[in-house]
Amino acid sequence: MPRTNSSQLLDELQRKYRQTHPKSKDYFEKSLKYLIQGGSHNLRLLPPFPFYDLQAKGSQVVDLDGHRYIDFWQGHFSNILGHNPPFVLAIIQDYLQQGQGLITGFPGIYQKKLAERILSRIPHAEAIRFTTSGTLASMYAIMLARGYTQRDIVFKVGGGWHGSHPYALKGITKFDFGLQSLESAGLPSSIDQEVITVDFNNQADLEEKFQQLGEKVACLIMEPFIGAGGFIFAHPAYLQKARDLTKRYGAVFILDEVVSGFRFHAGVLQTLYNIEADLTVLGKAIGGGMPVSAVAGRRDILELCGPQAPPEQRVKFEGGTFSAHPLGMLAGATYIQHLIENENDIYPRIGKMGARVRENIENIFRSYGFFVRCTGGDSKLGFPSSLVGVHFLLQDLATIDSPTQVFNPHVSDYIVRELIFKLAMLEEGFHIFHGFGALTAAHAEEEVNKALEAVDRIASYWQKIGFQFKE
Ligand SMILES: Cc1ncc(COP(=O)(O)O)c(C=O)c1O
Repeated sequence: MPRTNSSQLLDELQRKYRQTHPKSKDYFEKSLKYLIQGGSHNLRLLPPFPFYDLQAKGSQVVDLDGHRYIDFWQGHFSNILGHNPPFVLAIIQDYLQQGQGLITGFPGIYQKKLAERILSRIPHAEAIRFTTSGTLASMYAIMLARGYTQRDIVFKVGGGWHGSHPYALKGITKFDFGLQSLESAGLPSSIDQEVITVDFNNQADLEEKFQQLGEKVACLIMEPFIGAGGFIFAHPAYLQKARDLTKRYGAVFILDEVVSGFRFHAGVLQTLYNIEADLTVLGKAIGGGMPVSAVAGRRDILELCGPQAPPEQRVKFEGGTFSAHPLGMLAGATYIQHLIENENDIYPRIGKMGARVRENIENIFRSYGFFVRCTGGDSKLGFPSSLVGVHFLLQDLATIDSPTQVFNPHVSDYIVRELIFKLAMLEEGFHIFHGFGALTAAHAEEEVNKALEAVDRIASYWQKIGFQFKE
């Protein structure tokens, strides 16, 4: 029986990738003179080098070497409707034709429209303020909570990704001490004491940490559907416990819905759980493809960023040259309106495709003798989910419900997910992320069928060469 380990298979895939992408390779090598590793976002810089895109439309993207991929990454999961939806392009083109659209430094007439449309879908949120990235929005939400409570401690979930700012750079993917180490140099020295990680979907841990430190806790920030941490829904009882404990101890409850906002329905996920956060962080989909993010929620907390706030509580969430950029507001308002109007067509359809992909990928790998679990859906909750995470397991697990399983190298093989399976799918003409990624309204059933056939060929080949997940 032949045996192939990860390094051998990765070498083989990277060799083929180099051969079939000569123009991207050349572009990458020339870029290295100017750009660190050939680009400005590490996740986009697939080793040995990324392919450089020329065009993206609907479900597809075309690269410099002329390869056409069906894309399930879809703008870091921002795109609910596929790449460059024509109605958004048209409205931007119109605005530009009128000689408008670039930064002016005035409030503009589309900001209120986007605010109204978003808030119409978060009934308990009283106000919203825009900024330009999920990172900034989650940082400002935490600063608002600290200013409001006049407390220092931030509880965040181990495995939670809220962007790259000091309060969010602890306990992301590094498993060494159970997702609680600092993951960046250059942080203020107080961060390790002030940011405490809690276990996702673990009520006892949350209760214990609140009992120990509750009076000092400014906020708990978490995702109701953990994105980068493994595409896992919070258990309803856990989310309720988080809501109850924050209320009991006077801490601000922040739900980061950068991924989940407008992904499962035309609104925020907390509504489907019947839970109300004090502050909600939004990003990705709300800009309709433009860099827009926001903090929405309680007026008494958000008002701390206004000029009337008491000086000792005033939070400097007040700048941003490009905050509420005219094109972002216009694109976002147009996009959100479309999602609201077409909610009943879009979400059930993409959710059904997601469920089909999750079920089939698990079954395919299992039929070839591999332990694989797909996340992104939860049949007990029944929310229509278009997201698919694939986890290559070293032991058979019935469910994955915490990032501690996703990032534990004794449980899941991260290299297979992020490199080997990804390169194998690219060779087949599919661009995936976190094991698969996002279905959008632009994906056709036929494209999904072809992707599943590709998964079957890959699993069959892996069985033939005696591939094992861990060296
Ligand atoms: C849940 C969550 N919050 C915040 C962020 C940061 O957003 P941005 O990349 O726009 O800074 C991300 C990015 O992926 C995210 O997934």
